[in-house]
Amino acid sequence: MRKLTYYIACSIDGFIGDEGGDASTMLRFLDEEFYDFVKSEYPDTLPTHSRGPLGVEDLENKRFDTIIQGRASYDLALKMGVTSPYAHLREFVASRTLGESPDPNVEIIADDLVGRVRELKAEDGELGIYLCGGSVVAGELLEEIDELVIKTYPIVLGTGMPMFGSGLAVTDFVLDSVRTFENGLLVRTYSRKR
Ligand SMILES: NC(=O)c1ccc[n+]([C@@H]2O[C@H](COP(=O)([O-])OP(=O)(O)OC[C@H]3O[C@@H](n4cnc5c(N)ncnc54)[C@H](OP(=O)(O)O)[C@@H]3O)[C@@H](O)[C@H]2O)c1
Repeated sequence: MRKLTYYIACSIDGFIGDEGGDASTMLRFLDEEFYDFVKSEYPDTLPTHSRGPLGVEDLENKRFDTIIQGRASYDLALKMGVTSPYAHLREFVASRTLGESPDPNVEIIADDLVGRVRELKAEDGELGIYLCGGSVVAGELLEEIDELVIKTYPIVLGTGMPMFGSGLAVTDFVLDSVRTFENGLLVRTYSRKR
């Protein structure tokens, strides 16, 4: 089975952005130390359009070969005129409204999201599946998540968009690692306790 990993940026109080999902207050913590970590440990999570400016166009995938996003998250790329924001991965976008995919590399999942994700997890392969978010899709896929990689930024938002837009769902995870950064950011990795 391939792993489904929810790799997500959040505040100390567990919000992935403000109430509309805007996470731009976190961008100021993306410094050289953090980018070096992402480039070496999670290169696959760097969007295609950020690779040129970062000078890392040729990075090989290390952990993931597939990405899943909700339509609202994908919209952020579409608004920039980018139809394939993760061209180095197989891209899936959950949407009941988009209809036809705007890009040959992007497959729309309109029906049975959980079933399609189970099929993807059951495929053979060394690399896993990057669940990008947002909150709604992560909430619907919570039962399928095998690993959490939570980038916690040293800010409290007070209110905002939760990591999971689901109801109460007590789910146990085991802490695998913690990496701390000079600027107060930390990255915790958890595996689902099965
Ligand atoms: N902090 C971070 O690391 C991070 C990461 C990712 C995203 N975000 C933020 O998250 C925000 C978006 O999150 P969100 O929770 O509002 O939305 P989302 O999860 O990105 O997308 C929700 C949309 O996905 C589609 N969808 C959901 N369940 C579905 C199902 N079962 N079958 C088919 N389609 C389904 C629907 O699209 P249709 O309406 O088209 O049917 C729904 O409106 C953005 O503002 C983004 O900035 C933050």
